[in-house]
Amino acid sequence: METHLKNNIDFRPGKIKKMKKFLFPILMAMTFCFIVLTVNNVLALDEGGCLTCHQYPGLVRFAKPDGLKALHIDEVKYFNSPHGKLRCIQCHITIVKVPHAGETKIDCTTECHKGDKGDKEKKLPENYSLKGFHRQEQSFIVKLKDESSCRACHPLYPHSDNTLVRGFLNLHAGFMFCEVCHINRNKFINLSYEWESSENAEFSGKPFGTFYNPRTKNAHKDSHFISRIAAFTTSNGKKRSLTNIWDTARAKAFLGKEKNLKPDAKKKELAYFHKDIEKKEISVACNECHSSKSILDYNKLGFDERKTKDLIYLNIKGLVTKYKTFYLPHLFDR
Ligand code: HEC
Ligand code: HEC
Ligand code: HEC
Ligand code: HEC
Ligand code: HEC
Repeated sequence: METHLKNNIDFRPGKIKKMKKFLFPILMAMTFCFIVLTVNNVLALDEGGCLTCHQYPGLVRFAKPDGLKALHIDEVKYFNSPHGKLRCIQCHITIVKVPHAGETKIDCTTECHKGDKGDKEKKLPENYSLKGFHRQEQSFIVKLKDESSCRACHPLYPHSDNTLVRGFLNLHAGFMFCEVCHINRNKFINLSYEWESSENAEFSGKPFGTFYNPRTKNAHKDSHFISRIAAFTTSNGKKRSLTNIWDTARAKAFLGKEKNLKPDAKKKELAYFHKDIEKKEISVACNECHSSKSILDYNKLGFDERKTKDLIYLNIKGLVTKYKTFYLPHLFDR
């Protein structure tokens, strides 16, 4: 937004300019309150609005050293947990703005664990481990192998650059193949988006996602099959999948010899693997699907009316696409 202001030819007197700067966060806060208090009435207990974003299974990011950091908090499980009566910010005392990657400071003594006489909660030992505190409330896919060339080189959760959006992009891993977002749509005609066959996914927590393919015969009791959306192109009456499996062998071979390649040769080879691929601008990416002009035909894909509405009018879309930073309004005291 700041760049937007800068790029405008500015003929306004300084005073108005200041006012606009001041007005913006207020408008932002009002939008946020509106989303939290009205649209999300199911989450009425989430007064701070944290679950507006954190309610989604699969919200994860890559983290060193042990792989993944789950950011999902299941609403029902949280409210039924021993700490469910507390507001998020009573422990997460430093979270006041979005994005807040790296805000890991936690205080357990704002309400309880003070160790005072009469405090029904005991003081926690010095080095008490808080690791995995929300584990019971989190779901995400641990493993989902596919034969695409993309996955020969990229991990299941490939997004890490943008700290606000990466988690949201990553949650789509369980819903669709890379090409659905990344295919260069100018290079193909008659694009359509449909379910590909079912795959075996390994979950942490409660499984989620969509099961479509009726090949249940092959399903093991302890495994979960999900289906993902893939991109297709139709020419001369023939429909073919654009999920790239034809370059997978070459990609694996590339990985084997990558170290010995000169920078130029490496670059050329990478350009080959990405020749039908484009990186997307976040500002347009969400709207390609989460709007009434969606490239996806939700109805045809089998989503019911309610889910379709949820996906089209996805309320957080504006928050993550339009604004670089915004401060969470203080709806209630800590
Ligand atoms: C607009 C969406 C949004 C809202 C609202 C939101 N969060 Fe987050 N939060 C995120 C995203 C996205 C991440 C992951 C950032 C990243 O990729 O590192 C995150 C990360 C976190 C983390 C992990 C930080 C870390 O790096 O380990 C905590 C803790 C957290 N949020 C708590 C909260 C609390 C408490 C609230 C309410 C006061 C809240 N969030 C509101 C989107 C949101
Ligand atoms: C009673 C204290 C407490 C409350 C209340 C609380 N959290 Fe946490 N939260 C923690 C602790 C402790 C961790 C650190 C867990 C770890 O390091 O593994 C954490 C970690 C997180 C993370 C980072 C991911 C993770 O698992 O490490 C997110 C996201 C998060 N909390 C969101 C929330 C949201 C949203 C709420 C409210 C719905 C909330 N928390 C309420 C104590 C709390
Ligand atoms: C042989 C390994 C390999 C294969 C196969 C591969 N990638 Fe990549 N990809 C990379 C590497 C390495 C980079 C980072 C270097 C670069 O920017 O070229 C990258 C970068 C990207 C980027 C970011 C580009 C940018 O402009 O920043 C996207 C998007 C991407 N890959 C998507 C895909 C998709 C989708 C597929 C499957 C069709 C795929 N990749 C296949 C290795 C691979
Ligand atoms: C829901 C749409 C969506 C899906 C599905 C998706 N991407 Fe992306 N991807 C994006 C957008 C949007 C960006 C641009 C993010 C930015 O500008 O920070 C991006 C950026 C990237 C980047 C650049 C690096 C980064 O950290 O952002 C890579 C690499 C990448 N995607 C690879 C993949 C691969 C591989 C897959 C499949 C496993 C995939 N993407 C699936 C939308 C998607
Ligand atoms: C190529 C289409 C596509 C793009 C691009 C896309 N999404 Fe999605 N998104 C979907 C679909 C389809 C689902 C639901 C899949 C399901 O539930 O089976 C979904 C689900 C979600 C969900 C979970 C919603 C729910 O009700 O379960 C969130 C949050 C989300 N997307 C955010 C985003 C954001 C933010 C962006 C942009 C950075 C984005 N999406 C880009 C297609 C897309």
